[in-house]
Amino acid sequence: MKIIHHIDELRAALAGGPRPAFVPTMGNLHEGHLALVRQARTHGVPVVASVFVNRLQFAPHEDFDRYPRTLARDAELLQGAGCDLLFAPDEAEMYPVAQGFKVQPPAALADILEGHFRPGFFTGVCTVVMKLFQIVQPGIALFGKKDYQQCMVVRSMVEQLNMPIQVIGGETVRAASGLALSSRNGYLSPAELEEAVALSAELRRVADALRGGRRDHAALEAAAVAALKARGWQPDYVAVRRRADLAEPAAGDDSPLVVLAAARLGNTRLIDNLEV
Ligand code: PAF
Repeated sequence: MKIIHHIDELRAALAGGPRPAFVPTMGNLHEGHLALVRQARTHGVPVVASVFVNRLQFAPHEDFDRYPRTLARDAELLQGAGCDLLFAPDEAEMYPVAQGFKVQPPAALADILEGHFRPGFFTGVCTVVMKLFQIVQPGIALFGKKDYQQCMVVRSMVEQLNMPIQVIGGETVRAASGLALSSRNGYLSPAELEEAVALSAELRRVADALRGGRRDHAALEAAAVAALKARGWQPDYVAVRRRADLAEPAAGDDSPLVVLAAARLGNTRLIDNLEV
């Protein structure tokens, strides 16, 4: 696997070849990322991954500075998973001047849920993903469905801006306990790590109730929030939404659903979701 830090070198390495399959990441990789790389391999084109901690998608009070930078380990893992090329630019390479042009996703999709609690987050994500797409020119891009809303926002950007890229959402990889793998799980103390499973357990309870025919979404959401609070969590939301557009399902709407949640455990904010 080649490791490339500069845009010109990356373009030269990919020139003349087929459009690659691309797995963008912020590093500190886990099995969820590696599953995306293995899935990318099945498409029979070169696989490119990127590792770049994107300042634009972090608010000033968030964890940009302490986000783990583990490039040597990430490179070993990517190589083991069959990645052909790792693009690992530094900030000066990605943002040589202050990024004045930004990609502003529509409020209906990007100012709700994560976007409500992290204003500007999806503008930061779309802007860096757009830049990475321009640099890597992939034919396929893979994103983990643990970041469900991010997958939808990126897919919508690609569709509305007519980018010739197939966006694939990879299934969430979970520990045996049910805990969704996340780079931020590394912030948890051993006791918090045990407790963290409660988030997926609450999601499962809501999903099971929906599968069992309950349609009192607000009551189900409120019960899950209360249960998490009672265990010492600070939930931002537990929300039953339509899979197609993340809108609240109206009474009688039987379109496929997803339950999404974000909650803080100690100093760590975790997100998860389950399709129903
Ligand atoms: O999901 C992530 O790791 C990031 O949001 C992404 C897509 C790599 C953009 O920085």
